[in-house]
Amino acid sequence: MDQTKDINIFKPYLKAKVSYKGGKTLNDIKALDKPIYKLSSNENLLGTSPKAIQAIIDHIGNLNSYPDRSATRLQAALSKFYENELKPEQFICGPSGSEVLDLIIRGFMGEGLNAVISNPAFLVYQMFSEKQGAEVIDVPLDPDNFDLNIDGMLDAINENTRLLFLTSPNNPTGSYIPEADMDRIVYGVPDHVIVVIDEVYFQFADASDYCLAKKYVKEGKNVIGVNSFSKAYGLAGLRLGYAYTTEKIAQYILQLYKPFLINMLGLEAAIAALSDTEFIKETVTLVQTEKMKIYKAFDEVGIHYWKTQGNFILTRPKLDPQVFEERMFNEGIMVRPVGNFGAPGCVRITIGTEEANEAMIEAIRKVVNS
Ligand SMILES: Cc1ncc(COP(=O)(O)O)c(C=O)c1O
Repeated sequence: MDQTKDINIFKPYLKAKVSYKGGKTLNDIKALDKPIYKLSSNENLLGTSPKAIQAIIDHIGNLNSYPDRSATRLQAALSKFYENELKPEQFICGPSGSEVLDLIIRGFMGEGLNAVISNPAFLVYQMFSEKQGAEVIDVPLDPDNFDLNIDGMLDAINENTRLLFLTSPNNPTGSYIPEADMDRIVYGVPDHVIVVIDEVYFQFADASDYCLAKKYVKEGKNVIGVNSFSKAYGLAGLRLGYAYTTEKIAQYILQLYKPFLINMLGLEAAIAALSDTEFIKETVTLVQTEKMKIYKAFDEVGIHYWKTQGNFILTRPKLDPQVFEERMFNEGIMVRPVGNFGAPGCVRITIGTEEANEAMIEAIRKVVNS
């Protein structure tokens, strides 16, 4: 008897949708026979924290052993990094910021539930939430200055809302959420909503009213700060990230933590990187200095752009973004069209080394005048 004939074995919400499509990788570029500056993925063009590299070298001979079963030592290092204002148990570590976001989303999203986001935004909030069968309510940013529609976001919340995503500095816009706005949201949401504040570019923010999730977590609010070692620490290839929140929420999410989730080299590199203040200082100084030079050059060239709090700049060239991307590539510069992030007509450019930025500016001059 064929009883399964009419039974759909597939989860209806796991239907083929556009999955995350990253930019070209180093291997794609190596196959080309010309020098290319990769300014398309907001990586650190100075390289990797030297302390992290040393830690990897020191432990490379131990790969026959399992790593720590859980991230206890990294949690302790993070607590120290946050000047003991948060306890080790408040940290959730994982193999990348994206994976930590997925842990959070798996913990709180599901069929019948929803999350509030504001596009243009990092794609995974929506993608991962939908993969759990949840609905995503988009309350877009102001298209001109990328301010949040705070009243709209608060109004969009209903009894089935569990997560509200904020990103500061925001990818791809480079905008940030001033403390007064953050206060309005965090203190304005009902108790059944958790505010997820993605701050993976926090080291680059220099606005005087920039604020971290830490303020609210310390007050015991339903807030989760999300972070990554991919950006300022230059560890994108190793995949490391973490979140911090109240003990109650951390304990809940950590039920989803799998044993040995972070590999040995990752754990050791992350612990070492946290103490590498010198590398972070060098990285941040480079980005702050270079962004001023780039603004000036963009003003001269006449390409539209938005000031940034991140290590990247959003531009709106007069050309079609894909044509702009291709022409820039032909000049040896990789950039990222971000129409799929909800920013049609726009292209994101990472701030690189002085040499890379000069090459990028030169390429833009050629491309926009061709
Ligand atoms: C806003 C934002 N959040 C999170 C991430 C995730 O970083 P990763 O998964 O490399 O740790 C990124 C990466 O580009 C990002 O831009």
